[in-house]
Amino acid sequence: MHLNKLTEKVIEVSKSTGAFIREQYFLFNEENVEIKSLNSLVSFVDVTAEKMIVETLKNIFPEAGFLTEENTTEQRNLQQTQGYDDWLWIIDPLDGTTNFIHGIPTFAVSIGLMHNGKMKLGVVYEIMSDECFSAFEGSQSILNGKPIHVSERKNLADSLIATGFPYEKFDFIPQYLKTLSYLMQHTRGIRRIGSAAVDLAYTACGRFDGFFEYNLNAWDIAAGAFIVQQAGGQLSNFTGGDNYIFDREILASNRFIHQEMKTIINLP
Ligand code: IPD
Ligand code: CA
Ligand code: CA
Repeated sequence: MHLNKLTEKVIEVSKSTGAFIREQYFLFNEENVEIKSLNSLVSFVDVTAEKMIVETLKNIFPEAGFLTEENTTEQRNLQQTQGYDDWLWIIDPLDGTTNFIHGIPTFAVSIGLMHNGKMKLGVVYEIMSDECFSAFEGSQSILNGKPIHVSERKNLADSLIATGFPYEKFDFIPQYLKTLSYLMQHTRGIRRIGSAAVDLAYTACGRFDGFFEYNLNAWDIAAGAFIVQQAGGQLSNFTGGDNYIFDREILASNRFIHQEMKTIINLP
């Protein structure tokens, strides 16, 4: 199947799964008092959403393996994914779970397809705003049918930067605070909107000029990073390396501010 046809199918499944998540978001508010464990409801939503996606993708493209957040199907191990001569779906069925639990309407379905370590397509569907970001190899990035591009802002001083605060692994906080302190004083502002997939999608369409975060998993970023790349942006780990999807450190930018961002992330 051609990548553009496959991307259309992935958009379809992202939207139908998104419709289910949207429905649960409203039900969740109503049933809040009745249900004891908020996390178990969300787990149910995450797991069911992932099953819906995996089942459809298995039918569409049976040869491909899976790397998914909720482990609902047999997983390729990370060793295999880096250099494995095969096709791999990388899926986060619901990126932005904390927002979902707290009734903040920023969360997304994120689906990427990799072949032999190279991204071939990516779809990020921001559910509540009904914004679907997509790209496939050789294409421009698209938002709801229209081409998008990263911003043209040349300097950090004019830039809006997105990030995700550490919430689980804290050893890099001192370095991170140095970076934040610099960015607070030398940019238009910093945003933490709670979904790495959405942060990347917004970087791809120029709403954000750059995004960086420690400790993310491949499923948080594979699709979004590819959409940034196809929208003319630049991606690396914090030292400029290419293995940003698996390195647990990602810097995405409009390319003009990339070098400056890299320096600031590594401030001595
Ligand atoms: C999280 C979101 C968040 C990021 C976290 C991720 P989840 O994904 O992308 O923005 O800061 O590190 O784990 O748990 O909502 O799928
Ligand atoms: Ca995630
Ligand atoms: Ca998730």
